[in-house]
Amino acid sequence: MSFPILTPQEAAELFHHDQNVGFSGFTASGSPKVVPEAIAHRAEALHDKGEDFKINVFTGASTNNWADGALARANALGKRTPYQNTPDLRKRINSHDCHYFDLHLSELAQKVRYGTYGDIDMAIFEVADVKPNGEVVLGTGVGNVPTYARLAKKVVLELNAKLKPELYGFHDIYLPLDPPYRREIPIFKASDRIGVPTVKIDPEKIVGIVHSDSYDGIKGFTPLDDTTLQIGANVCGFLINEMRAGRIPKEFLPLQSGVGNVANAVLFGLGDSKEIPPVTMYTEVIQDAVIELMKMGKCRFGSTCSLTLSDATEAEVLDNLDFFRDKLVLRPAEISNNPEVIRRLGVIAMNTALEADIFGNINSTHVVGTKMMNGIGGSGDFTRNGYLSIFSCPSVTKGGLISNIVPMVSHTDHSEHSVDILITEQGVADLRGKDPVQRAHEIIENCANPIFRPLLRDYLNRGINGHGGQTPHTMGAALAFHDEFLRSGDMRNTDFSRYF
Ligand code: COA
Repeated sequence: MSFPILTPQEAAELFHHDQNVGFSGFTASGSPKVVPEAIAHRAEALHDKGEDFKINVFTGASTNNWADGALARANALGKRTPYQNTPDLRKRINSHDCHYFDLHLSELAQKVRYGTYGDIDMAIFEVADVKPNGEVVLGTGVGNVPTYARLAKKVVLELNAKLKPELYGFHDIYLPLDPPYRREIPIFKASDRIGVPTVKIDPEKIVGIVHSDSYDGIKGFTPLDDTTLQIGANVCGFLINEMRAGRIPKEFLPLQSGVGNVANAVLFGLGDSKEIPPVTMYTEVIQDAVIELMKMGKCRFGSTCSLTLSDATEAEVLDNLDFFRDKLVLRPAEISNNPEVIRRLGVIAMNTALEADIFGNINSTHVVGTKMMNGIGGSGDFTRNGYLSIFSCPSVTKGGLISNIVPMVSHTDHSEHSVDILITEQGVADLRGKDPVQRAHEIIENCANPIFRPLLRDYLNRGINGHGGQTPHTMGAALAFHDEFLRSGDMRNTDFSRYF
């Protein structure tokens, strides 16, 4: 069967107001580009005529400036899930123009299959190759394509010329059965393959192919500052000590690390360590640092949902696919982030917090408790199920106006029950086996910035000497740091006497 070739504008005409649309990809990698941008232009034209036009977009994770960016600028997003990170969409979410529900990434595919959010009307997939029988080779991000491919009534393919048909074999496409028929997911080491290399789409559903050639627009590393380097060194030092103490086996355990500079600093630190053997990754995102480690022989294998690489590194990988063929596998999000597999493999989870409280609760998503930053992403999937769950962040933000260690988090994404270790540039707080007051001492003395330690000690002592309890909060003062920031723009001005 041959499929019609469409322009992006012709493809955009196929989309209608209030449709549920599944996108390929995971982060900017593998997300469609030219069709979402054309849909955004169509939305603007329809809005100018006074017509309603918004689509509900289901993805794997965040997308890119052509998809979330353009659609948000056009105010063309009705609902959006499970994760985003573009400034324009952030504004739409926080002004309620877009109904965003922030979900654990491992959960979306199965909830869509369960029918929780209604039908998937349309899907747009970026692909490296398409066969006449509807079989496609995906690109650098898998996300939830297998589920959207099965459920979507119509599919538009973006055939991206930068991707190569030789990507065939990098993907491991596996859809679990749904309850009550689900079986174990038989991954016993990061490199196990349990599925097939392609996604099979009913050719009758493929309404057209649109050609594109863009890279994902991901920037390279920014130079690491002293704080980031110190956090990275503290994480590495902690992991090495754990291995020396026998709490991490000498073969080491698979790593999950978030995106960003801290993750890069940690990975490079591990790569430099003579004690740590070449690592494996069981993670959702592989970024440039892992590719460097593979070239150095310091990373043996990476299981991931996406290759979130800078454009230059992506080009290098695409030019050297044979080198990476036995070192990488790309999986659907519900497998890369699967709680059962993460628990079985003993993944070491390393994620970033916006703020942590003295008792070990983590806020990853909401700035000063109200404004959505990005979303929980896969951090909950890995934190809740990891062998070791580590969070890191700088001790202060905005030049010291904000303490990232607070009396009580202004929003809770990861509770004290799931967090083992907290690390800032100041040091390491090991929360394991400690009660809340012991944890508070550990966090204040090892992780808080010295400028904020007296205030945090004061808060803790007033709680202990006041209403007490297992977790000695003082309710009226628990959010005093945030309250002060909203009043004066500087948490250092917090005056607890106002609240007691
Ligand atoms: N209060 C208010 N603002 C804060 C803050 C706090 N406690 N901590 C950080 N910020 C601000 C920063 O100043 C910065 O603002 P800017 O954009 O105006 O410069 C912004 O939040 C981002 O902070 P930054 O230090 O650059 O963080 P990051 O890029 O390392 O991202 C998270 C941190 C938490 C936002 C990010 O890791 C995330 O979205 N996590 C959830 C998803 C996840 O963990 N996924 C799994 C791994 S891929």
